[in-house]
Amino acid sequence: MTKERIISQDADEEDTQFELSLRPQTLKAYIGQEKVKRELTVYIEAALKRDEALDHVLLYGPPGLGKTTMAFVIANEMHVHLKSTSGPAIEKAGDLVALLAELEPGDVLFIDEIHRLSKPVEEILYSAMEDFYVDIIVGEGQTTHAVHVPLPPFTLIGATTRAGRLSAPLRDRFGIVSHMQFYTTADLEKIIMRSSQVLSTKIDDQAAKELACRSRGTPRVANRLLKRVRDFAEVKGEKRISLETTRYALTQLQVDDQGLDPTDRKLLKTMIVNYHGGPVGLKTLAANIGEDAETLEEVYEPYLMQQGFLTRTPRGRMATKKAGSWLGLPFMNDD
Ligand SMILES: Nc1ncnc2c1ncn2[C@@H]1O[C@H](COP(=O)(O)OP(=O)(O)OP(=O)(O)O)[C@@H](O)[C@H]1O
Ligand SMILES: [Mg+2]
Repeated sequence: MTKERIISQDADEEDTQFELSLRPQTLKAYIGQEKVKRELTVYIEAALKRDEALDHVLLYGPPGLGKTTMAFVIANEMHVHLKSTSGPAIEKAGDLVALLAELEPGDVLFIDEIHRLSKPVEEILYSAMEDFYVDIIVGEGQTTHAVHVPLPPFTLIGATTRAGRLSAPLRDRFGIVSHMQFYTTADLEKIIMRSSQVLSTKIDDQAAKELACRSRGTPRVANRLLKRVRDFAEVKGEKRISLETTRYALTQLQVDDQGLDPTDRKLLKTMIVNYHGGPVGLKTLAANIGEDAETLEEVYEPYLMQQGFLTRTPRGRMATKKAGSWLGLPFMNDD
């Protein structure tokens, strides 16, 4: 499988090119995630010195924070090939064995959405990760027998938005577990500056800062907003993206000063107006606003929680007072 697999299917040719060039290739060029980078730098250097494969790495955190990018950076720093696939793409145990059999010593197998592997496929991984072999069953009926297939030492990099969904036996086999955090505004500003160079666009410092503040701590969002703001500047005939145009474009895109979009606001508003601030179950909320429950949980909630607009309780989701005052809505719940 090729690099193209990791790019959303609706990306057109031009976007695909941008996507690839927007991705930093080295740990040095990778902005932010200092703790993750610091640790990986040590482990990579040690593995290189010992001439060994890097231990298996689990990268987890909300979407768009650079997990896929980091997997490619690791393979690059280790000077090895990377094979990329995803949990749902591996249908049968045999598909995984075929992928593993193609690896060369030290290579990286990257499995995106690793929490979505089927049980039989996951079980194949256990021995592959721990002792570098797989036992496969061949033949039919009376001739059925197990064949022991040794594998070269390799590095599995798993990415997931849901570390909690991983079974304990799988999670325990990762020697390195890296939690990706939301980016600071300062780091997002640097990413925006870097991306605008890649896109051959000039942007005022103030404008980059404004974009950074409104990008939900997420590089993917920052890059997406930058491209849209660039369109507005282009139509205006602006040589350099200004703060004024940035603000105008973000208003048109309905992204508010906190980076909340219409779905975020609808989510919070529903909780406050229809459920007195909660608690309300995720499925009920999803049905109310016409979104998929999983999307709400993985894409929207993490940032709203980090910003203190929403909390998760055993009885359901609750909007905070901060959410009420941000939206200018009277808050009924006095909990
Ligand atoms: N540290 C970074 N510096 C610069 N750009 C970054 C950084 N991290 C991510 N990006 C950019 O953000 C976008 C999203 O990154 P990526 O696809 O790696 O995220 P992800 O965590 O794998 O997301 P998902 O969970 O949705 O698969 C890419 O365009 C990438 O170039
Ligand atoms: Mg990814």
